[in-house]
Order: sequence, then C-alpha cells, then structure tokens
Amino acid sequence: MKFFIDTANLKMIQEAQDLGILDGVTTNPSLMAKEGISGEKNIIDHYKKICEIVDGDVSAEVISTNFEGMIEEGEALAELHSNIVVKVPIIKDGIKAIKYFSDKGIKTNCTLIFSAGQALLAAKAGATYVSPFIGRLDDVSTDGMDLIAQIRGIYDNYLFETEILAASVRHPIHIIQCAEIGADVMTGPLSAITALLNHPLTDIGLAKFLSDFKKVNG
Ligand code: E4P
Repeated sequence: MKFFIDTANLKMIQEAQDLGILDGVTTNPSLMAKEGISGEKNIIDHYKKICEIVDGDVSAEVISTNFEGMIEEGEALAELHSNIVVKVPIIKDGIKAIKYFSDKGIKTNCTLIFSAGQALLAAKAGATYVSPFIGRLDDVSTDGMDLIAQIRGIYDNYLFETEILAASVRHPIHIIQCAEIGADVMTGPLSAITALLNHPLTDIGLAKFLSDFKKVNG
C-alpha cells in the first residue's frame, strides 16, 4: 500500500519524506488555507515546492465547479510539474472533466467519494485515483471502512485500474484496516503515520536492552 501524506505543510511533508516511506501528497483547499496560502502565484509556488520535496504524485484540487473552468485550471496545474495529479470533485461536470483529462493522459484524483456508486462512475470516467473519505463517514456513524471494502470488490470484479486512495484517515488503525482490505493508497496526517511506530513493549524492550548494555560496558 502506498503512503501519501494529507497536508500542505512543507515541514511535515519533509519529515515524512525523510522517513523514506512517502509515496505522495494530497492537498485540498482547506489544507492550503490552513497554511495561509492564498493568491494564484502563492498557490502555484506552493505546489511547486511540494513537488520538489516528494518524488511521487501530488494532488492539487480545482476550485471551479463547471467543466470549462475545471479544464482550464486542471491543465494549468498539470503543467506545473509531472508529479501533479488534478483533484476533481465527484459532480456531473467533474466526471466529464475526469474523462477529458484521462483521454489527454493527465492524472486525476476524484475526491469527496462517499458511496460505491460515485466510485464506480469515477472509475468508468478513467480516474487515476478515487478518494473515499473514511473519517468523515465515521463522523456520521457510518463505517467508512465498509465503503473501502465495497469499492475494492467492485473494482476487482471488473479489473478497473483506478486506484483506491483511502482518504480522511484519522488514526493508525484506519491505516492498518485499509491495508487489510487492500486499498491501493492511504492518505493521512503525519501523526497517524508515525503512530504506527508506537508500542509500549518496544519502549520497555529497548530501555532494557540499553540498561543491560550499560551494566557491563559502563
Ligand atoms: C483527501 O484527499 C482529503 O484531503 C482529506 O483526506 C480529507 O480529510 P479530513 O476529513 O480529515 O479533512
């Protein structure tokens, strides 16, 4: 399973990259706003900086909600760097735009997926990735992981090449469950990724090894 980090924070992206396990980055307008990135030039510069840190796919989301606007924005984004994946919402014009980008060889990430039907349409349009939002489904008392499993089954039935990019990951257990089900990619915060390292027995075991070493080596 590929590991993407879900942030526009350059320090966190660099930290994940330095771990040596990072395969890509996802951003969205809220994450860009959180970093205080505004204005066309600053937004473009920021995407370029992210692409310089990571050797992998970087999702950059369009703001337009009509076909023409999405095409104009998406083509400009795709020209910034070969790592850029154009992120498009699952709406009617979004599906048309994904088909257009797919025919032109531009990679896409179909976002805001909350149902298997939406994921099926996105795959038929040729999306490179679909982003089902696990955490936001959990927030409304619906098991987000059930959706990942449902999409996995559908895509496997028809050998769709669209990759399941499990998004809105909040906890390390989400990552483990995604891997068990067979999501192609997960995107989450650095905290969820580094939490995978933690186990109290590791801490206890390491402390004991070091103290035993000290006993005989001074
Ligand atoms: C996915 O691409 C989204 O950017 C993200 O995963 C949404 O996560 P959130 O529900 O934690 O905002």
